[in-house]
Amino acid sequence: MHHWSVFSLSLLLIGSCLCQYEPTWESIDSRPLPEWFDQAKFGIFIHWGVFSVPSYGSEWFWWYWQGRKIPSYVKFMEQNYPTGFTYADFAPQFQAEFFDPVEWVDIFASSGAKYIVLTTKHHEGFTLWDSKYSWPWNAVAVGPRRDLVDDIATALRTHSDLRLGLYHSLFEWFNPKFRADADNHFKTNVFPTTKSLPELYEIVNKFKPEVLWSDGDGDAPDSYWNSTGFLAWLYNESPVRDTVVTNDRWGYGSICKHGGYYTCSDRYNPGHLVKHKWENCLSIDQKSWGYRREAKLSDYLSIEKLIGNFVETVSCGGNLLLNVGPTHDGRIVPIFEERLRQMGQWLKVNGEAIYNSSAWRVQNDTATPGVWYTWNQKEKAIYAIFLSWPNDGYVVLNDPIVSASKTQVVLIGYQALSWESMSPTGLKVHLPQLPPSQMPCSWAWTLRLTGAM
Ligand SMILES: *[C@@H]1O[C@H](CO)[C@@H](O)[C@H](O)[C@H]1NC(C)=O
Ligand SMILES: *[C@@H]1O[C@H](CO)[C@@H](O)[C@H](O)[C@H]1NC(C)=O
Ligand SMILES: *[C@@H]1O[C@H](CO)[C@@H](O)[C@H](O)[C@H]1NC(C)=O
Repeated sequence: MHHWSVFSLSLLLIGSCLCQYEPTWESIDSRPLPEWFDQAKFGIFIHWGVFSVPSYGSEWFWWYWQGRKIPSYVKFMEQNYPTGFTYADFAPQFQAEFFDPVEWVDIFASSGAKYIVLTTKHHEGFTLWDSKYSWPWNAVAVGPRRDLVDDIATALRTHSDLRLGLYHSLFEWFNPKFRADADNHFKTNVFPTTKSLPELYEIVNKFKPEVLWSDGDGDAPDSYWNSTGFLAWLYNESPVRDTVVTNDRWGYGSICKHGGYYTCSDRYNPGHLVKHKWENCLSIDQKSWGYRREAKLSDYLSIEKLIGNFVETVSCGGNLLLNVGPTHDGRIVPIFEERLRQMGQWLKVNGEAIYNSSAWRVQNDTATPGVWYTWNQKEKAIYAIFLSWPNDGYVVLNDPIVSASKTQVVLIGYQALSWESMSPTGLKVHLPQLPPSQMPCSWAWTLRLTGAM
């Protein structure tokens, strides 16, 4: 080998950027998704910000009040705040006086989730971390006067094995630099080069998130946001290049098409297999992601509905990202806490049908409604999860191919059950008559089939 080539090889190694990915969608989209994400199946989404202070209507409060001027929002302000009160005036009231990040982490971990995704900055532009680019519109300069992202990241890493994910909005409704670029039809890019991109580099370098959940393209194309340039850096050189996953919201038209896993739309739950990895982000409060004081009990999804959504999502190849909105004073209210702990109770029994599972050849049973399948390659087991306990004492599974000598059926958390094969396909599983105290779990139950195809 000639001297110069040894020299250039060592330069490559010292530079440590193998720069495998180019700033094009073709290259970015070719990156395999780090395996942990598909195995995890379940994450917690957290929408927290200045919008948690009015905590009325939606985390889109500012826009609905002063952008779209929706009458109910205008009236809410007129009736409850003095004339001249601005959105910025809410920030000092964001006190987080009851915020205990270790308690939050305990609640998240109790749910069985394997990752969280925290809004570090929503479309209002207020950063929950001490950003150099958001002075003084951030949680250290005003309001809580602490770096909330750092608090949560630290508590998560010292008190759990959950992975940290960060949500970041590209655009900001009222930022004058963004508005000016928009007025120029995005032919200028002052806002991304001085605000959104520096922030993205800042949160990745500082907090080393393993999920980067981008949102809010502001109708601007990914070329305006320089998304592929940023993602090439993220995948080639960033401190999380080996494990980080991202979503698909990186510019107008990229959703459900480019980036990492697909989100497609809020509360995406297609009911059929989607081969590209995807995530269903779902809010417990059906009407808002941010905390809403006027929510009614019926606005909150029941645990039966949540588990139904979760099971359908996993059967169809997705992950569930379940959202809670903390209050401005830093609490996760008991109704959210209860739902999360219930998810964990259910997963404690049925986790083997969920974690590390894959989609099976059939997603839901073709004869019996409300039966969803997963497959565990390592256990060579088919899991049939039924969402309601039948009145007639048996479940018919139309799709598994069974063998009288080999197939075993177990009700998870209980014991093996007797079954008979059906013609022309499938089996009828006899369920035990169990008093509630002997039920292995509530809300949905799992049959594990081994020796079946
Ligand atoms: C886009 O990102 C790449 C990679 O970080 C960078 O080299 C390039 O200068 C950026 N372009 C603009 C216009 O900011
Ligand atoms: C899932 O698989 C990973 C990698 O093999 C392993 O580390 C993890 O413990 C598994 N999780 C469960 C719940 O089996
Ligand atoms: C399977 O699920 C799909 C999507 O939810 C639904 O349209 C279909 O009716 C289900 N099949 C049965 C037999 O329930």
